Amino acid sequence: MLAYHLQSLPKAAADEYLEVAPPLTAAHMPEARLYPSREAILHALPKSGVAGEVGTWHGDFARRIAETCRPEILHISAIDLAAFNEREVRASLGGAELRTHQGDSLTELHRFGPDNFDWLYADGDHSYSDVKKNLEAANFDLRPGGFLMCIDYTNWACAPAEPCGIARAAHEFCLGRGFVNTSFALHGTG
Ligand SMILES: C[S@@+](CC[C@H](N)C(=O)[O-])C[C@H]1O[C@@H](n2cnc3c(N)ncnc32)[C@H](O)[C@@H]1O
Repeated sequence: MLAYHLQSLPKAAADEYLEVAPPLTAAHMPEARLYPSREAILHALPKSGVAGEVGTWHGDFARRIAETCRPEILHISAIDLAAFNEREVRASLGGAELRTHQGDSLTELHRFGPDNFDWLYADGDHSYSDVKKNLEAANFDLRPGGFLMCIDYTNWACAPAEPCGIARAAHEFCLGRGFVNTSFALHGTG
């Protein structure tokens, strides 16, 4: 049914609906490595320093960040932190600082200001328009040489069966801002 409707659209409209990502070149991934999981990528990210997760839920991945990267400061942000298990994440930080921020990701990212983060992980809204704005705002918050990490690097989300804007926004961001990909990870749902 979806294929039938898409075939009746002009290619540009179908591509836009499917959030087709513009192609990158080899120059955008000169030494990229493939990891078995997103948790494994954490071992390649800066240790200590200032890290942030934008789009936290229960705090499971935040705890993995705390345990593996041992940041001096970990910022946690989500539109609603009611489900966040703050006690567990604090315990895994071993005395380092946890700062929590409840609110829309773009608003919170704009609050941080420049040169704040060694790296940021974005896992909030997955729509193209939000991810595009979030990546730009996160870039502003990064220190020179900092890292951005995304999840669900695809143009189609299989669980809700709907378009996903992350690959398109990430590719446009790399092409526009001169970022390169250092690490990719396998993930059970794409
Ligand atoms: C997939 S869950 C995050 C899971 C978490 N990163 C982990 O791996 O353990 C996405 C989270 O982002 C939050 N979120 C969605 N849209 C958001 C927005 N516009 N601003 C801030 N948080 C948002 C959701 O409420 C949810 O808590």
